[in-house]
Amino acid sequence: MKDPLVIVCAGGGGVGKTTTSAALALALAARGHQTLIVTIDPARRLAGAMGVPVTDEVTLVPLAAAKGRLSALMPDPRRSMRAFIDYLFADEPEAKARVLSNKLYIGLADAAAGVHELVAMNLVARAATDGDFDVVVIDTAPSRHAIDFVTYPARLAALLGGRSVSWLAGLAQRSGGAAPAPRGLLSWGTGHVEHLLARVTGPNLVRDTADLFGDLALVRERFVSLTRRASELLLGERVAYALVAAPTAAARDDVIFLAARLEKLGRRPRAIVLNRADTRPAPWVSALRAGRGVAPSITDVLDALEEERSTRSSAADGLAAHLHAKLPWASIVRLPYVEASAPEVIVAALSTELDAHLAALLPEAR
Ligand SMILES: Nc1ncnc2c1ncn2[C@@H]1O[C@H](COP(=O)(O)OP(=O)(O)OP(=O)(O)O)[C@@H](O)[C@H]1O
Ligand SMILES: [Mg+2]
Repeated sequence: MKDPLVIVCAGGGGVGKTTTSAALALALAARGHQTLIVTIDPARRLAGAMGVPVTDEVTLVPLAAAKGRLSALMPDPRRSMRAFIDYLFADEPEAKARVLSNKLYIGLADAAAGVHELVAMNLVARAATDGDFDVVVIDTAPSRHAIDFVTYPARLAALLGGRSVSWLAGLAQRSGGAAPAPRGLLSWGTGHVEHLLARVTGPNLVRDTADLFGDLALVRERFVSLTRRASELLLGERVAYALVAAPTAAARDDVIFLAARLEKLGRRPRAIVLNRADTRPAPWVSALRAGRGVAPSITDVLDALEEERSTRSSAADGLAAHLHAKLPWASIVRLPYVEASAPEVIVAALSTELDAHLAALLPEAR
């Protein structure tokens, strides 16, 4: 089992997170790295960006010419929880059947927000354990809170590693009348929490909570070790955060907001990717200009095009300067606007661009 490097791509809506993540993964594979690209965005647009089928199993992406290997994983919010339970309870079929019919479990599995990211990251941790990856690239959901998911596994691992699980499992036995009542402070606390939960949600929820935790206690070791691994991948020494922006005020504010949230976690963005920052002169422009006897109206159009191009590029210069002043420790990587409509063509073009910037995006060697 290798410890892969991890690159988390986050940013505002529509700035090009999925495109950048896919292009980055492609560039890394082309350079010889065994790469896994994962989207934890429930919207699952990765397959569209890559132009190949991507499923909720780790799948090899066919590459024309690459030294490394590219695999992709797109957990399905409707099925990721089930895939995770299947793995956790592989050796406990009876407990698994109980969990799957537990009302609290069913409620949790449907509660989407946060749960999907957490479960998806546990699936990534499992893929990183079973697979042989040098780098894992993670594409996230378009939300200002999308980066918060990096803390979920650590919080869950702390909860599971602590005494609460045995305590709740004990509750299971007590509500079945099997275990002796605990003594002292714990008995006071237990009684009160039981009473409170029952008052707020009805007696069945207490029973369901207790049963669910009782069954989880059976697979606790597997659960805890996977969750710890997910946490190491996201908060350990081998992770880099890349914030993606487009040259708009909203995208700039999103990057600053996300960087502040990372700072609260004691982390800093490794790089800021300014996507759609530059427009390259199209080859036909210079060909037309070079032609003899070009009509003045065509020259005017070409001049207007050139002016628009330089306006865009100075907007990107302004944004780069602003972000550099605010976040001087982050490298700034500029990506061009690609004039193409097929997403996979855009991804391929950007992966060529990113090849020169891999060192700035990969986690720093420590
Ligand atoms: N550099 C670029 N040049 C041209 N088109 C681009 C570029 N980057 C992204 N696009 C296009 O912009 C659209 C949005 O990109 P993408 O889906 O990667 O954004 P996103 O940030 O992941 O969006 P969401 O917030 O919805 O997840 C796509 O159609 C993509 O092909
Ligand atoms: Mg996306």
